[in-house]
Amino acid sequence: MTASREHFSSRIGFILAAAGSAVGIGNLVGFPVNAAKNGGGAFLVMYAVFVFLICLPVMIAEMAVGRNTAKEPVGAFKSLSQGNKLWGAAGFLGVLTPFMIAVFYMVITVWIFGYIVLTLMGRLDYLASGAGFGEFINSPYLYLALLVVGGIVSFILAAGVKEGIEKAAKTLMPTLFVMLIVMVIFVLTLDNAMTGVHFFLIPDIDKLTPKVINGALSQAFFSLSLGMGILLTYGSYINKQTNIPNSAKLVAITDTGVAFVAGLMILPAVFSFNPEINPSELSDSSVSLIFTFLPKIFLALQASLGYVGASAVATFFFLLVFFAAITSLVSIIEVPVSYLVTEKKHSRKKALGYLTFTAGILTLFATASFGMVSFFTDFTSYAGASKSFFDVIYDVFYDTILPLNGFLLCIFVSYRWRRKQLSEELSIGNKNYKGSWVEKYINFSLGTFIPLIVLLIFINTVATKFFATSLFGL
Ligand code: PFF
Repeated sequence: MTASREHFSSRIGFILAAAGSAVGIGNLVGFPVNAAKNGGGAFLVMYAVFVFLICLPVMIAEMAVGRNTAKEPVGAFKSLSQGNKLWGAAGFLGVLTPFMIAVFYMVITVWIFGYIVLTLMGRLDYLASGAGFGEFINSPYLYLALLVVGGIVSFILAAGVKEGIEKAAKTLMPTLFVMLIVMVIFVLTLDNAMTGVHFFLIPDIDKLTPKVINGALSQAFFSLSLGMGILLTYGSYINKQTNIPNSAKLVAITDTGVAFVAGLMILPAVFSFNPEINPSELSDSSVSLIFTFLPKIFLALQASLGYVGASAVATFFFLLVFFAAITSLVSIIEVPVSYLVTEKKHSRKKALGYLTFTAGILTLFATASFGMVSFFTDFTSYAGASKSFFDVIYDVFYDTILPLNGFLLCIFVSYRWRRKQLSEELSIGNKNYKGSWVEKYINFSLGTFIPLIVLLIFINTVATKFFATSLFGL
């Protein structure tokens, strides 16, 4: 029995769902700090160039493969390669990767949920104290939070593509945009806000070292949710009237726009808290920034807003990040759900049951990686560093396999499926596509320099992460 595939009800529904996937924790916190530390305006321009010239063609190709096959990565790679086993394995990597990334992203989302609860309970001072975070990540209450977050994500996914994913995106994304704007307006009224804006925007070309350039491209790639099978799977739910290049462009603009606007929220807040700070002192990790530094900033607001006011701002901020994280989690878990439904012929509910159970167990292990259980905390070691279970998932799947998946997709589309087929698919819903310079650019870039660049990132990541050396001094 083959049930007909569900579709998004409208183009805007699809765009919001894809943007919901792309806009995540990385946009709201990681990007602004990265930009301010690494060249301000110069970084922004370079990032935008990477998004539109390198990432956008990959996004368009993912969506095209999805719509053409009406399948998830395994089914899509298999059917377009006429059952070739090796390409089937590449497709499988496109399902395993999101499953594993979902585990590590779930841990962070659970923490954010915990922060919402604690700020609501009036515990902002505890979170802002140096010891707060260390204790918090080892709290048994996190398992309760995991049940709640897992429940919310499963609830959305169980309702299906139209009634679940699309509806959630249509509600959460506009709410997120409004909350972000409210937060920016508020932060810009704080003392010293403009110093932060300057750091964010004033270009400093000298900071654009090969390492920064490599980091910017990886960030753009991840930020657009590429290489995770998500846009391929969402592409399988769009109809033939949809203009894919235009829709993808809107998703990229939204994602980059949110990252940019988030810079106008985070940096003025950082500078109003400490006008003397040099952005290069800020930690590289979004995690320590969100969970240890920002609570201190919120607490400092009590001087003007009182403790309740400061706590309310903190709750508002964590809720904003939570919404961004939920729509990303929904999109990433939809990939293995779709695989079990399409390839393994399970019902949606059963597929969700299996995944919630297995991902839930792995998330338990990952949550216990921060000191609760020493087996998971000191899981292994490589490149001279001890690594937890959480670190391994992050290093292997998020940092390493993602660019490999991107590379495989470009090669698959250009040399196995073939560019002619890609053009055919992209001209559906877009009469002027064939013969346009966009078509020429996409076909050329996907078959040449994009896979080459992505492959270099992959090799460099393997060298640095696992062998503690680096390519070309990157
Ligand atoms: N684009 C997302 C972000 O910037 O956070 C990347 C992502 C990560 C999407 C994890 C989904 C996900 F589960």
